[in-house]
Amino acid sequence: MRKHTIRSLKNVHINMLTCYDFQTAQILDKSAVDIILVGDSVGNVILGYETTIEVSLDEMKIFCAAVKRGAPNKFVVGDLPFGSYATYEDAINNAIDLFKSSKVEAIKLEGASETNFKIIKRLTEIGIPVMGHIGLMPQSVHSQGGYYKHGKTSHEKNKLMQEAIALEDAGCFAVVLECVESDASQVITEKLTIPTIGIGSGPFCQGQVLVLNDLLGMTPNAPNFVKPLANFYLEKSKIIDSYLNNNHDTYN
Ligand code: KIV
Repeated sequence: MRKHTIRSLKNVHINMLTCYDFQTAQILDKSAVDIILVGDSVGNVILGYETTIEVSLDEMKIFCAAVKRGAPNKFVVGDLPFGSYATYEDAINNAIDLFKSSKVEAIKLEGASETNFKIIKRLTEIGIPVMGHIGLMPQSVHSQGGYYKHGKTSHEKNKLMQEAIALEDAGCFAVVLECVESDASQVITEKLTIPTIGIGSGPFCQGQVLVLNDLLGMTPNAPNFVKPLANFYLEKSKIIDSYLNNNHDTYN
């Protein structure tokens, strides 16, 4: 399976999956996945934080590096965590730090502010590909007023369209649309020349991203747009209970 670049990603249906650990990265490295995302959802899924806001740059560096060691043959994107790109200078320094230390192929950041456009422009100029992220932005859960569907009204649809175009103009190679109404993500996908990657945003984006742990049924409370293909949570519990209750001879 060939390793994608920002150029080859332009023309394929993109399957992006999250990953946070070396062992799973080794499995994904041999799979047909197009992009691996070390999302800051690691905060909720692995670290047990209430929101992604608590995730630090040092934590992202550890998880990104572990995934990259397991998946050297995949295009890996690492999230810049909350607060690490609040100012232009911090953003440039922190993105270089994450990119250089973990060896990910690109970084992702949330939002479409003027500061973000400047950051994206500079990062792409110095050789760091940037993926944008609009719609529901977990790092802005408090300023957005919770987790809900975006792009319901024509005003919201227009705003999302303007943000997506501005992210493309700033230099993003792709943009995540999270929890965006299906008709809005369709028109945005048709308008942009860079790929859109949807999550909970309907079938019309150029690609889809899922939290792998949700797909595998590893958490008891997956979001309702995911249909888990297994119940690893139950399987794990059963194996642990079976071992503890039945005195299995698992020692050599
Ligand atoms: O952190 C993450 O996993 C993400 C995806 C949900 C897009 O940003």
